[in-house]
Amino acid sequence: MIKFSASLPFDRRLAPQDIRGSMAHAAMLAACGIITAEEAEAIQAGLQEIAAELKEGRFPFELEDEDIHMNIEKRLTEKIGAAGGKLHTARSRNDQVALDLHLFLMEEIREIDKMVADLQEVFLELARKFMGVVLPGYTHLQRAQPVLFSHHLLAYFWMLQRDRERLAGAYRRADLMPLGAGALSGTSFPIDRRMVAASLGFTRLYENSMDAVSDRDYIVEFLSCAALLMAHLSRLSEELILWSSAEFGFIELDDAYTTGSSMMPQKKNPDVAELARGKTGRVYGSLMALLTVLKGLPLTYNKDLQEDKEGLFDTVDTLKALLPLMGEMLLTMRINRPRMEAAAQDDFACATDLADYLVRRGVAFREAHRIVGELIACAEKAGLKLKELTPEVRRRFHPALGEEIGHLLDPLAVVKARSCRGGTAPEAVQEQLRLAEQALQDQNKLFQQTTNPA
Ligand code: ARG
Repeated sequence: MIKFSASLPFDRRLAPQDIRGSMAHAAMLAACGIITAEEAEAIQAGLQEIAAELKEGRFPFELEDEDIHMNIEKRLTEKIGAAGGKLHTARSRNDQVALDLHLFLMEEIREIDKMVADLQEVFLELARKFMGVVLPGYTHLQRAQPVLFSHHLLAYFWMLQRDRERLAGAYRRADLMPLGAGALSGTSFPIDRRMVAASLGFTRLYENSMDAVSDRDYIVEFLSCAALLMAHLSRLSEELILWSSAEFGFIELDDAYTTGSSMMPQKKNPDVAELARGKTGRVYGSLMALLTVLKGLPLTYNKDLQEDKEGLFDTVDTLKALLPLMGEMLLTMRINRPRMEAAAQDDFACATDLADYLVRRGVAFREAHRIVGELIACAEKAGLKLKELTPEVRRRFHPALGEEIGHLLDPLAVVKARSCRGGTAPEAVQEQLRLAEQALQDQNKLFQQTTNPA
């Protein structure tokens, strides 16, 4: 039973938050005259010693004491005697656990946001570095229209931008101070919840004690942000894996982020990208697990809620290990520009533009689409590329196709024509890059204001 019900093996990582929360609580109890100043000082000195013991690996953990909260409190009383027993005045483990989790998550969101911002910087850097490189853009994994490689990369910048917006929203809703809720209904002591909130960096208080001890929405919300962020990293990983295969041959990942095969000497496996893709599953799993834990739980605290922690910790660890690696892997990847551009040379590139050309000559788009489709079918049947068809053959499909159309068959010209806002033309991508740089700065500022409102 002890082993089954203890959370100590995993919640010991909440020790720093637990000590911080208890320090603030003790200071408030003294300020409100609930304990004496001497008692508060003894508690704080004792907690400081415990922090040192934990840091130096000297803390005597006891599984019998279930969790880190009871372990620390018991150790405190061992050290300072009766005053230690007063720390838990006007507090329950229910609001204490909630407080520690809020503090933990707020800190981690700050760090993870920074890492996502760093990864955004990588995309900006690569977009600048590879400006002008053309490769096929795909739909259905079939070559569709040529695009700038920078345009493709910047698509990920904007996904990460939305991830950061979501993280900032999750932070705002994690920023709620639960202490004072007691076990579930509040406390009869004259506490000052605002004081505790201010000293721990919270801007808001829970306004309902029952909500305060039951709520795990903020963790669900963070896990859902994490799940979507992982989805983005997984899609990117899938592209890197495809592009680094012999079939595509568009990129080569640095040896530092690949492994050899134990049997096949020629192999270079994109392990980091594959693991990013694979670990997406466990992050989704943690989100589903917590949603399922919450479903059907009556108010208020139920022991089920102890299951909120491992998935959260695992997700934080997964993101913090992966995000920097992703950036390094991208920065060190080499591209095979000739392979990309040769793939983009394929006649597929110009089909839409040939149809658009006919539209400009007064043909309705649907009709133009059909005509070019037939032209391509004819070329394929003859085993020729479009540019190898003679003007006489082309004219049979439409008189305008008999004219000089070579400029329409050049992928770079096709790319340049996509000059609308958000399109792949070089000037449009330059403008996009400028907007992205601005968006990154704005989000940094906004996040700073969200997490440091003072
Ligand atoms: N170990 C528990 C958890 O992590 C602490 C809260 C327990 N509260 C209680 N009344 N049993 O959720």
